Amino acid sequence: MLTQENKNKIDALRKQFPDTKSLTIPALHIAQEQYGWVSEEAMKDIALLLNLPESHIIGVATFYTMFNKKPVGKYHIQVCTNVSCQLLGSEKISRYICNKLNIKVGETTSDKKFTISEVECLGSCGTAPMMQVNDDYHENLTPEKIDKILQELK
Ligand code: FES
Repeated sequence: MLTQENKNKIDALRKQFPDTKSLTIPALHIAQEQYGWVSEEAMKDIALLLNLPESHIIGVATFYTMFNKKPVGKYHIQVCTNVSCQLLGSEKISRYICNKLNIKVGETTSDKKFTISEVECLGSCGTAPMMQVNDDYHENLTPEKIDKILQELK
């Protein structure tokens, strides 16, 4: 259930948006900040709060890959596999991380520390291959850089 504080945050945004539908994405971000993912319960809460059909909230949440539809680890590694990153080895990068963490894409380590996902362009094509870990971008990736990043997060 969304906390009262987060419901208030969503309410406070109302005056910045032309209608409640346009509040859907900010509300989903707030829910994801609270839980680390967007649960069915959170989507129901948002639908009630914004007085919108639940199907609309689910439609938006499932369309955008940045909304996690299931729990993720403490560190959510999102490897971009779109064209620029793919041309510069994102598949190898993804495989390398999976091997290091002993998980497959879409899985979470047993200690709930890391989840790895492959995602579409993150808008940093000039520094491909790249990945996002929680809110941080890591660019021009190499196996050595990945080793360092993972070591710092462990
Ligand atoms: S293709 Fe990877 S950031 Fe754009």
